[in-house]
Amino acid sequence: MKILLLGKNGQVGWELQRSLSILGELVACDFDSPGDLKADFSDVDSLPALIRRVRPDAIVNAAAHTAVDKAESEPELARCINATAPGVVAQEAAALGACLVHYSTDYVFDGSGSAPRDEQAPTNPLSVYGRTKLEGEQLIRSSGCRHLILRTSWVYAARGGNFARTMLKLAAEREELKVIADQIGAPTGADLLADVTALALPRLQADAACAGTYHCVAGGQTNWHDYARFVIEAARGRGDAIKVAPDRVLPIATSAYPTPAQRPLNSRLSTVKLQQQFSVTLPHWQVGVQRLLTEVLG
Ligand SMILES: NC(=O)c1ccc[n+]([C@@H]2O[C@H](COP(=O)([O-])OP(=O)(O)OC[C@H]3O[C@@H](n4cnc5c(N)ncnc54)[C@H](OP(=O)(O)O)[C@@H]3O)[C@@H](O)[C@H]2O)c1
Repeated sequence: MKILLLGKNGQVGWELQRSLSILGELVACDFDSPGDLKADFSDVDSLPALIRRVRPDAIVNAAAHTAVDKAESEPELARCINATAPGVVAQEAAALGACLVHYSTDYVFDGSGSAPRDEQAPTNPLSVYGRTKLEGEQLIRSSGCRHLILRTSWVYAARGGNFARTMLKLAAEREELKVIADQIGAPTGADLLADVTALALPRLQADAACAGTYHCVAGGQTNWHDYARFVIEAARGRGDAIKVAPDRVLPIATSAYPTPAQRPLNSRLSTVKLQQQFSVTLPHWQVGVQRLLTEVLG
């Protein structure tokens, strides 16, 4: 199988370079790749030529505008990268008969209530990021290409900026940290997403019945405050230089930390459909985060 990977240097893109390499020939691109391999989602008109040149059997798109707060002040760019460009990629995939794997987000929901949402739950994004990601999903579905959309949440990796790494840095510098405790979700490793993709992609290629939208997050649930404490105490237990005392990591409400973009309070996603369709078990979030800590703390 010849696979075109777009967004190769993001958290998920980087892990996909590893996991997809066992499936066949991998052509991996980013927006700053040289010459013919440049895949800039803000230059939508350049994408068809790239895809027609590579002629892949499958396209995996990990490129996105993920700066949730910044998206509020640059909605046109966010829409271009998160919706228009994936729509063009999907049309090209349909024309070539290639499969497409794309990632979406819990932010397509409004986060009301306390139950986990399944794939059929009504969407109602609260932010520019959520709205543009939802539009991207819709354009992919309407293109008619054989696709998987994997909705995930709270992504982290050893490479790239993310909450766990920010907490480790702040805990080493500050005596007190205030962390939001009323948003619930599941931290999900980019490596887990990449491995699920590598497992699901050959199945998608072999069987159109696998196509569709799936929720893909690690097992269990937590809030940002408990997640921060887990990361900080694990680092302290490993003898890392941590300045903040355990009782100075303080829980706060979302309302006490205003941000340009509104975030869903309930990001619980049901993964029953994915686990049944692809016969996978999604490990508890703490398993992956422990592994991240081993990797970044040594
Ligand atoms: N991160 C999360 O917590 C989270 C949660 C739910 C869903 N998701 C979804 O999961 C997928 C992967 O996310 P991630 O965490 O790997 O995000 P990421 O680390 O921000 O990776 C996104 C990649 O897209 C690149 N990009 C930005 N502008 C581009 C452009 N104009 N053309 C082409 N590429 C461009 C980014 O480059 P730069 O870094 O140089 O800007 C980055 O390499 C995305 O679809 C995202 O929406 C992420």
